[in-house]
Amino acid sequence: EKGGFEHFMLKEIYEQPRSVRDTLRGRLLPEQGLINMRGIDEYKEKFLNAQRIIIVGCGTSWHAGLVGEYLIEDIVRMPVEVEYASEFRYRNPIITEKDVVIAISQSGETADTLAAVKLAKSMGATIFGICNVVGSSIARETHAGAYTHAGPEIGVASTKAFTAQITVLALIALKLGYMKGSISESKYMRLLIELNSIPEKIEETLKCDPLTRYLAEIYKDSSNALYLGRGYNFPVALEGALKLKEISYIHAEGYPAAEMKHGPIALIDENMPVIVIAPKNDQYDKIYSNVQEVKARKGRVLAVVNHDDEDISSIADHIIEVPETENIYSPIINTIPLQLLSYHIALMRGCNVDQPRNLAKSVTVE
Ligand code: M6R
Repeated sequence: EKGGFEHFMLKEIYEQPRSVRDTLRGRLLPEQGLINMRGIDEYKEKFLNAQRIIIVGCGTSWHAGLVGEYLIEDIVRMPVEVEYASEFRYRNPIITEKDVVIAISQSGETADTLAAVKLAKSMGATIFGICNVVGSSIARETHAGAYTHAGPEIGVASTKAFTAQITVLALIALKLGYMKGSISESKYMRLLIELNSIPEKIEETLKCDPLTRYLAEIYKDSSNALYLGRGYNFPVALEGALKLKEISYIHAEGYPAAEMKHGPIALIDENMPVIVIAPKNDQYDKIYSNVQEVKARKGRVLAVVNHDDEDISSIADHIIEVPETENIYSPIINTIPLQLLSYHIALMRGCNVDQPRNLAKSVTVE
C-alpha cells in the first residue's frame, strides 16, 4: 500500500505531480482561457460583492491560507484576513452576511475549523470549503466548495494536501480576478498556461531528492533551525519549519526574512542553520542582503534557489536548485525540497516519520 516507498510520507511527496494534476483536471482549461469551478459560479455575487474574505484553518492548512491571502489580494484586489480557526472562534469575531469565509482542511474534521465554520455560518457569512476528504464534516457544513483531489493522505505530516490546497486557492484567485477584471487578459492567460505546467515542474523538482538526503546528513544533528522567506515564500518558511519540527523534533522557526533583524538574528552563530527560500523575483536583492547578514554572523546557510542563480549561490554554504516559475506558484515548488529535507533528517534521527509522537492525523478535539 506504500507503493514501494518506505513510508507514506515519501510516497505522498512523490505523488505531488499527480495530486496537483488531479486537482487541476476538468477545472483548468488553458486553451479556452477558462477555469471551471461550480462552487464559485454559484456564489459569484457573494464573492464579488464581499467586503472581505476570511480564511480559517489550522497547522499546514493555515499556512496554505496565508499563501491564499497573497494570491487573492494580489490578483483579485480584495482584502483577505487569515485566522487560526481556534483564535477566530473564541474572539467574538465581527462577521456579517457580506463576508465570505474560506475554510481549509485536509481531513475536513478538525474541531476548531469546524466550529469556526459553524459560527461564521450562524452569523450569515457565505462559507466555502477547501477539503480533501469527500463528505467530511466541514465539507458538509459549507455552502459551496472545491475539493483538493490529493487522494488519501496517511502520513501525519501534511505534504500533498498542502500543495493541492495552494493549487485550489490559485484557481479561485485567477477565476475571481478574471471575473472582476482585476487582472489583464494577457496576464490571466499567461498564468493559466504556467499553472498547467506546474505538475511537470514538481516532477523536475523531485530530482533534488538525493541532494536533500546528502544535506540531511550534514544538518541532521542541529538542535535548531531558522527558515526565512519573503512575500509568497514567507508561508513556505513557516511550513518548512513545521515539517521539520513535527517529524524530526528539531526546534525550528519560520520568519519573514526582514523580521530577522527584530530578534531572531541574536540566535545566529556557527551552529544555527538558516534555510533561505530565495527564488528569482522582485525581492531577490532584499533576501540576498538577509543572507549576507546571516553569513556575517557565521550562520550556515542552505538556500533554495532557481537554476542558474549566482549571487546567493556564491555566498550560501549549500544550495538546492529548483525550476523557475511565476512568483505566485513558487510556494508549490519551493515546498518540495523542504518536505524531502525534513523527511530524510527525521529518518536519520530514527524518528517515526509517518506517526510522530504526540500527534494525530486529524485533531477532532480541542
Ligand atoms: O485536516 P486539517 O487540514 O484540518 O489539519 C490541520 C492540521 O492539524 C494539520 O495541517 C497539521 O498541522 C499537520 N500535521 C501538519 O503537517
